[in-house]
Amino acid sequence: MPNTILVGAQWGDEGKGKVIDVLTAQADVIVRYQGGSNAGHTVITGGKKYVLHLIPSGILHPGKQCVIGNGVVMDPFDLLKEIDMLREQGIEPAGRLFISNRTHMVMQWHRALDAADEARRAQDKKIGTTGRGIGPAYGAKMGRSGLRVGDLLSPNFLATVKECTEAANVTLAAWGAPALDAQQLVKDYSQAAQTLAPYISDTVAFINEADRAGKSILLEGAQGTMLDIDFGTYPFVTSSNPTSGGACTGSGLSPRRIDRVVGVIKAYTTRVGAGPFPTELCDATGEQLRQKGGEFGATTGRPRRCGWFDAVVGRYAAMVNGVDFWAMTKLDVLDDQPLLKICTAYVDEAGLRHETFPADLSLLERCKPVYEEMPGWMTPTSHITRYEDLPLKARAYVERLVALIGGRLGILSVGPARETTLRMGL
Ligand code: IMP
Repeated sequence: MPNTILVGAQWGDEGKGKVIDVLTAQADVIVRYQGGSNAGHTVITGGKKYVLHLIPSGILHPGKQCVIGNGVVMDPFDLLKEIDMLREQGIEPAGRLFISNRTHMVMQWHRALDAADEARRAQDKKIGTTGRGIGPAYGAKMGRSGLRVGDLLSPNFLATVKECTEAANVTLAAWGAPALDAQQLVKDYSQAAQTLAPYISDTVAFINEADRAGKSILLEGAQGTMLDIDFGTYPFVTSSNPTSGGACTGSGLSPRRIDRVVGVIKAYTTRVGAGPFPTELCDATGEQLRQKGGEFGATTGRPRRCGWFDAVVGRYAAMVNGVDFWAMTKLDVLDDQPLLKICTAYVDEAGLRHETFPADLSLLERCKPVYEEMPGWMTPTSHITRYEDLPLKARAYVERLVALIGGRLGILSVGPARETTLRMGL
C-alpha cells in the first residue's frame, strides 16, 4: 500500500476506527500522529468490541507495528490501562508498540487544570473538552515547559514531577479546585516509568528506516478537520493539528514521502462539545439520527449533536487536507429518512452567499445553511456488499455529496461490522 494519511473531515467521530482497521490490513507500520486520550477509536472484530484511545488499532492485527508519534500527547496512566486491557484480551503489545521519546506527556496536573479551567469558564465560553488534559499538555509543549516521554528515563524526572505538582497546586487553589498529592504522584509515575521504559524509542528514525525498506506506512489522525487548532472553529477546537499537515510534523515522515490522503466523512454531520454547527438538527430528526447512529461519545459517553451533511465543511476539508479518496461512513443511518437535506452554501443576513468555511465565528452565527433536498431510499442497506446493489436513490445521494465536495469515493460503509464496507479502489 502507498504511504497514506487518514484524516477526519468533520468534527471527529466520522467512523475513522473502522476505516483504519480496513486500511491497516494493507499497511506494515501504523502511526498515530496527534491528539491524546481525548480520542476513542471503536473497532469491532471477531465479535469483540475494542475502544482504543492512544494505541493505534493496528495492534489488533497480528504482525503490524504501531507507533505513538511525537505529535501525540500521551497520558502514561491511560496508556498502561490500554496495555493491560489488550493483555487481558490475549494481545501482547510488547515488541510491536513503539512510543516516541519526543512525545509529550499529559500529566495528572494537566488533567486537573483542564477540568478546573472548564469549570471556571462562563457558560458561553466553555469548550466542552473531554477533560483529558489535552489543552494544558499542548500548552506546556508550546510554552517549552512540557515533559517528554524520554524524560521518564531521566534521573531528574521524579523531582520535576514533585516541582510541577506543587506549582500546579497554586493555580488549582486560585481556581478553587482540590490540590493534587505530590508524594502519591511521584510514586505512581516512578512505577509507570519502569513499566513503559521498554516501549520508548526514537520513532523518527524507526519510521524513516521502515519507509526506506519499502514498508508501507499508515498515518492515522484523531478528531477531525473542524477541530484543528488552525483550521477549525477556533476556540471551539482541540489543541492539535488533526489535518494532513499534522501527520508529517507529528511523525517525522517527510511530506515528500506521502503518497495519498484519505478523508473519512460521515453521510451526515455530528459534533460533540460546544461551538458552531450550522446544519445542526435540534428536533426529532436529529434525535432519530442520534439513536440510529449510536451517536454517543466513545470517550465520554456524551450524546453527540446531529445534523444534515454540510458540503461547505466537506469542500473545505478536501482543500485543507488534499483529500484524494473519500471513505464515506454510516450511510445506513439514513435508511429510514424520507427526505434528505444537503447544505451547499451559507447565506448571511445581507443575503451574501458563502461557499468556503468562514474563520469569523460571529459571521457563521449570522449565517443560515442553503439546502438542496433529495428523496430518501426508505429501505435497509446494511446487508449490501456491492455498490451496484445499493438502491438508486442511495447511490444518487452519495454521488451528489461527492460531486459537491470533489475527489473520488474509495470506501462506502453501510454498517458497523467489517463486512459492511464497500470498497471502490481503496
Ligand atoms: P479536548 O480535545 O478534550 O481539549 O476537547 C476540545 C474539543 O474537541 C471538545 O469540543 C471535544 O468534544 C472535542 N473532541 C476532542 N476529541 C474528540 C474526538 O475524538 N471526537 C470528537 N470530538 C472530540
